[in-house]
Amino acid sequence: MKGAIALGLGLLSLANALPASSAAAAATSVSANGTRFTIDGKTAYFAGTNSYWISFLSNTRDVDTVLDHISASGLKILRIWGFNDVNSRPSTGTAWFQLLSSSGSQINTGSDGLQRLDAVVKAAEKRGVKLIINFVNYWDDYGGMKAYTTAFGGTKEGWYTNAKAQEQYKKYIAAVVGRYINSNAIFAWELANEPRCKGCSTDVIYKWATDISNYIRGLDPNHLITLGDEGFGLPGQTSYPYQYSEGVDFVKNLGVKNLDFGTFHMYPGSWGVQNSFGPGWIRDHAAACKKAGKPCVLEEYGVTSDHCNVEKSWQQVSRELAANGMGSDMFWQWGDQLSTGQTHNDGHTIYYGSSLATCLVTDHVVRIMPLGDSITGSPGCWRALLWRRLQQASITNTKFVGSLPAQGCGFAYDGANEGHGGILATGIVARRELPGWLQSAKPDIVMMHLGTNDVWNNKSPDEILAAFSTMVDWMRESNAKIKILVAQIIPMNPPNCKECGKRVEALNKGIVGWAQGKNTTSTTSPIKVVDCWTGFDTAKMTGDGVHPNSAGNEKLAACWFDELARAIKG
Ligand SMILES: *[C@@H]1O[C@H](CO)[C@@H](O)[C@H](O)[C@H]1NC(C)=O
Ligand SMILES: *[C@@H]1O[C@H](CO)[C@@H](O)[C@H](O)[C@H]1NC(C)=O
Repeated sequence: MKGAIALGLGLLSLANALPASSAAAAATSVSANGTRFTIDGKTAYFAGTNSYWISFLSNTRDVDTVLDHISASGLKILRIWGFNDVNSRPSTGTAWFQLLSSSGSQINTGSDGLQRLDAVVKAAEKRGVKLIINFVNYWDDYGGMKAYTTAFGGTKEGWYTNAKAQEQYKKYIAAVVGRYINSNAIFAWELANEPRCKGCSTDVIYKWATDISNYIRGLDPNHLITLGDEGFGLPGQTSYPYQYSEGVDFVKNLGVKNLDFGTFHMYPGSWGVQNSFGPGWIRDHAAACKKAGKPCVLEEYGVTSDHCNVEKSWQQVSRELAANGMGSDMFWQWGDQLSTGQTHNDGHTIYYGSSLATCLVTDHVVRIMPLGDSITGSPGCWRALLWRRLQQASITNTKFVGSLPAQGCGFAYDGANEGHGGILATGIVARRELPGWLQSAKPDIVMMHLGTNDVWNNKSPDEILAAFSTMVDWMRESNAKIKILVAQIIPMNPPNCKECGKRVEALNKGIVGWAQGKNTTSTTSPIKVVDCWTGFDTAKMTGDGVHPNSAGNEKLAACWFDELARAIKG
């Protein structure tokens, strides 16, 4: 984004000196595999956002607050400014990272220098948020290429080949990369924000991007590298953004060996095209990325009015291409409430906690609580298979919630749950356990597979269904729009209970009528019965007559998939 003006954010510089990042050696926590990203072992589509100002906050508590909010919102990637170039030293307390001067440049590692960036990296490390950090601005905000040409002469178009400017730019890159080379919070190094070279041959930026990405790869073999351009210059249409007049050839640049993914931005309003331009722009980039075998990131996008409708539709298009080139979308820009007041509103800002954030951030993550006993929770690897199926179907706007963590199932997956070994529905009600779980996890969808331990303890269908009713009431109290999926549970045939099989059948039969009777608020909070019983063979699909083996896990993932997918989309 161009219009990122300086804020009076540097005024309260009581910052403590922070040590440079000391995160563990897990420097490969982010990788690209074909057109997908893998973060901390999880291959998925990731949502993110931008905050140019966070790098310059003087109050570390503000940095922590913002990262708390971003992480709680389910956003995984944050793009920040890694530069702040000046030609003369500002007053104490105002952040600056590099002083550019023909008589000797200086990189500021002090408390109003790169220690500000340290605070962001450290806060991100703590919360598992991954950062895209860029090294220079094409625009004049925070210095940019202009600060280099002021010091070393020449024009912005000449910057890419200006030997003195490039020498200092590389020194700056080395300083920043070296500082966080072992951090697991780095998503990628980015060459520049929106590099352009008006009227130049596209070879200028192509050659520069090749040279600089090789240089960074030499410094740091482990982190991803990207260009940070707006995605101009590609076949498809003839409107201005598709043209090569800004010296950018998106497709050619994708071919640069050490650029690991493609970036593009989208501001129809600033580019003289209609909002309806958006979907095609996303599809054409995704197709180019797919062809190149690298992921695409819709790295900035925004409008100044009708945010919810317009941007939500763009997000949908991008997500639908999750298996076809798109790896992530990151809206411009994050807004928050700091100790100094509200952050910069450039007309594109989506403030944390606002109704726009609900539309564009919270709504787009559907929170799902798997609720049950050991069949669901320990280890419950059908949930891992189900999660993977959702990814393969490009259904990526999910967060599984609950107080229990994922267990090992051979690959990383989103595995939080409320699957409590040995638990009875009647027991959950007797101990009033569910309201607390709901309050912490705030699910939009509950998928419940319960009753196995109840029938084992000879509870009658009526007792069990009465417990289900109380639980449904609690669910609707916690969220009037909650969607409830109730399983007709898998059969059981444990050696110590010959009657259990029949009791399960009786319960499953009762569930149908019970669900219809409890479906009183079907338009806002529907109950769906999911048949996990039919076709489940305890002899082949369990080891002990009760707990699914790998064939049973496949079967359970399959029985849940359609209704869950429908509930997420609906
Ligand atoms: C890359 O993705 C493919 C297909 O999804 C998968 O089989 C493979 O294991 C992945 N490789 C790595 C290194 O993650
Ligand atoms: C409850 O109502 C919804 C919406 O009409 C419907 O789709 C669903 O099948 C109903 N559930 C039951 C158990 O009848």
